[in-house]
Amino acid sequence: MKPILGLETSCDETAAALVAPDGRILAQRLLSQTREHAPFGGIVPEIAARSHLAHLPRLVDETFAAAGLGWGDIEAVAATTGPGLIGGVIVGATFGKAASLARGLPFVAVNHLEGHALSARMVADVRFPYLLLLVSGGHCQLLGVRGVGNYRLLGSTLDDAVGEAFDKVAKLLGLPYPGGPEIERLAHSGNAKRFDLPRPLIGRAGCDFSFAGLKTAVRLLVEKVGPLDETARADIAASFQAAVADTLADRTANAARSFVAEFPAATHLVVAGGVAANRTLGQRLKQTAERFGLAFVAPPPSLCTDNAAMIAWAGIERLQLGLSDELGIACRPRWPLEELARSPAP
Ligand code: KG4
Ligand code: ZN
Repeated sequence: MKPILGLETSCDETAAALVAPDGRILAQRLLSQTREHAPFGGIVPEIAARSHLAHLPRLVDETFAAAGLGWGDIEAVAATTGPGLIGGVIVGATFGKAASLARGLPFVAVNHLEGHALSARMVADVRFPYLLLLVSGGHCQLLGVRGVGNYRLLGSTLDDAVGEAFDKVAKLLGLPYPGGPEIERLAHSGNAKRFDLPRPLIGRAGCDFSFAGLKTAVRLLVEKVGPLDETARADIAASFQAAVADTLADRTANAARSFVAEFPAATHLVVAGGVAANRTLGQRLKQTAERFGLAFVAPPPSLCTDNAAMIAWAGIERLQLGLSDELGIACRPRWPLEELARSPAP
């Protein structure tokens, strides 16, 4: 099989990548729109869509040039067709469909979440079934991954996604977006025991998450402490991160217990999505995995946050199973992993 072109435009990153069937990234280009949205204090969907449109064709050309490849050297085009901000999704998916039509190449419609879910298999020998903690700006879920397109939801957030909580707490501390990396950096020098923040749902049965109460507790704390000096900000960041670590570890332990009981052959806990770039959380989850006899895998940070290499990789995995899509396939703003097309059971 020849390399695949992957396209990602579902949020505020415009990205293209060429990936070989063995998982090697031959070239990739990624443009973050953070600065364009910064004046508005959040992502503006219309600006995102227009920016994807303005930059994607050039990024694709640059990716081919960097890899020293042309359209005739690739196997297929894979593009995110959801879930995400629909204007941006349509830009990337339509570009991908047009290219595949013009060049006579198969088109693979990739679910952005499946991109995150399978990314660990690009870099490590992770076999199905495995337990997945998917933690990003828009999602917080525990899933059993039984195969490509074959997911079972074990638990999810009842309110905010964990990345969203990081971003909101960062804003309260006067830190720029995206807040996750800023909080992680600040927390290094902070005292995680100084402030006792709530750990929602800890000790309860099940694998669901809740972060709204924790976020509110941080807001009340910030109001109570008053003007924050550097030490107070670092201590709040560290205390918040510790509360998140405890919560993720507790919920993941419940999921691991039932998953391992159901699938004794399971060997891995994988963490994916932007928040998986956090090393403190990673260390904690590694301990949790080991308690249940699972090896822990977190992709490198550049593969955790949104990128097109993971979309190309999901396309490779699908194509290898004979799964590709009609050009009429619709883009979807919401597209839960349990609704994916999968190959027939062997
Ligand atoms: O997967 P992603 O790039 O985009 C979505 O699909 O949402 O995730 C972005 C999220 C943001 O909320 C960002 O603050 C968070 O991931 N994030 C982190 C870290 N790096 C990114 N959160 C905690 N620690 C990090 N090091
Ligand atoms: Zn993402």
